[in-house]
Amino acid sequence: MKIAFATPGHPDSGSLAVGILADRVLTESAQALDAATDGAISRALSGGKFEGKKNTTLSIEAPHGLGIARILLVGLGAADEIDDLRLQAAGGAALRALGRLGEVTAAFAVDAIDGCNIALDQMAAEIAFGAQLGSYRFAKYRTKTESGAGDTTVETLTMLTVAPEAAEAAWAPRARSAEGVFLARDLVSEPGNVKFPAAIVEDIKGLADIGVDVEILDQAKMAELGMGAMLGVSQGSRKAPYIAIMRWNGAPDGAEQAPVALVGKGVTFDTGGISLKPAGGMEEMKYDMGGAGAVIGAMKAIAGRAARANVVGVVGLVENMPDGDAQRPGDVVYTMSGQTIEVINTDAEGRLVLADVLYYTQTVLKPRAMINLATLTGAMVVTLGTHIAGIFANDDVLAEQLQDAGAASGENVWRLPLDARYDKEINSDIADMKNVGKSREAGSIAGAQLLQRFVGDTRWVHIDIAGMAWMKRGDDPLVPKGAAGFGVRLLDRLVADNFEG
Ligand code: BES
Ligand code: MN
Ligand code: ZN
Repeated sequence: MKIAFATPGHPDSGSLAVGILADRVLTESAQALDAATDGAISRALSGGKFEGKKNTTLSIEAPHGLGIARILLVGLGAADEIDDLRLQAAGGAALRALGRLGEVTAAFAVDAIDGCNIALDQMAAEIAFGAQLGSYRFAKYRTKTESGAGDTTVETLTMLTVAPEAAEAAWAPRARSAEGVFLARDLVSEPGNVKFPAAIVEDIKGLADIGVDVEILDQAKMAELGMGAMLGVSQGSRKAPYIAIMRWNGAPDGAEQAPVALVGKGVTFDTGGISLKPAGGMEEMKYDMGGAGAVIGAMKAIAGRAARANVVGVVGLVENMPDGDAQRPGDVVYTMSGQTIEVINTDAEGRLVLADVLYYTQTVLKPRAMINLATLTGAMVVTLGTHIAGIFANDDVLAEQLQDAGAASGENVWRLPLDARYDKEINSDIADMKNVGKSREAGSIAGAQLLQRFVGDTRWVHIDIAGMAWMKRGDDPLVPKGAAGFGVRLLDRLVADNFEG
């Protein structure tokens, strides 16, 4: 969808969206429209359920006195509660309502609001951001032209504000963030036969266009580095594994500053390996590269808006398959760190991949902070469901920075514990550790404890996004059904608020 900016005025076709505050209070634009339509808005508000509550809309079709098809009233809620996220939600809700009505051309009149301290330009940018995020659809494999239910129909959304240039400038970084989210959603939506490791490597190389330096480690290089855990996972697949390193050097003081590292699990399909998963629902495991997708998308957002920080993204790309050469339960692998792992369950492969990728990142790239994202455990979905991601950290400050970035971006996280008593449960009788705990208890913590054994003293946070990478319902107006792109907005915000300058 195209976002445009223009000065206020009544368009002569399409739909015009205007805000209504709680208790049926009209914004300035709504008042002007009400006057131009002989009180159509007042009449529509006088009866019925629509009161201007947040996330609600009401359409007034073919308003008298204007050439447009409809006025869409968008509830903003109480003026003193309006923040960035509320405005994004309003944009998303408006876009969704317009899609249901089949509208193609729309404008949104943005007004200054008494009691709300967000600048008008920023208000326009946030509303546009929410609408843009909600407009995403993945329809490339539908070869029939009929549109499906819930399709986005709006092609252009014009934000009407008194200073369109300033609003457009405020929108620019949000536009880059949306592009990053869309890249992550595209990669996650694609099936395993299309986006296998080598195919994702090609997409990553495309980031060179926006100034990202890309380095690729192939299988031979990984073998030379001693990455036996990562290669053990790859062993049962015909597809070659890769590690991709994406560098954005935007720090004002040059390349000297240690980077922030973003690390992603990129299992392009997870069958479970010899510890094969049940058939029902296995197709969902194409999203087991959601961590890598988020990192790639975040790099696109961060480089796209020329963030003033050094950031490095590292993704471990591999397919977990069960062929005659696949690793067996009971196999022992040597990791790059020298530590050995007994592979009890070949389906606990994400931690094996990350053991080598985290160790490489920590020792070779020497970051000032390291954040990894992974669809690591089904247990995480049981713990927190699909609204909040779980985080595990060895550093209280970094954990808090993530929680703050989560609150600010709307991609919320909740901290769970690491503890020596859980760590003990992954000790093995014949190796340094095993890749699953003693029992099914606290499965997400067991996974996190294994990762921690590979991060050394580096300040580190692990985000288990198993419940967040894919939205079955699509009830958030900013996140349509399917690939969520979870983590892009969170990471972009984390970098913007803590590591730039
Ligand atoms: N990719 C899965 C975790 C997962 C499950 C992500 C459901 C998203 C939705 C991971 O590789 C896995 O299979 N984990 C096992 C670990 C177990 C064998 C200790 C799990 O969660 O069952
Ligand atoms: Mn698995
Ligand atoms: Zn997995």
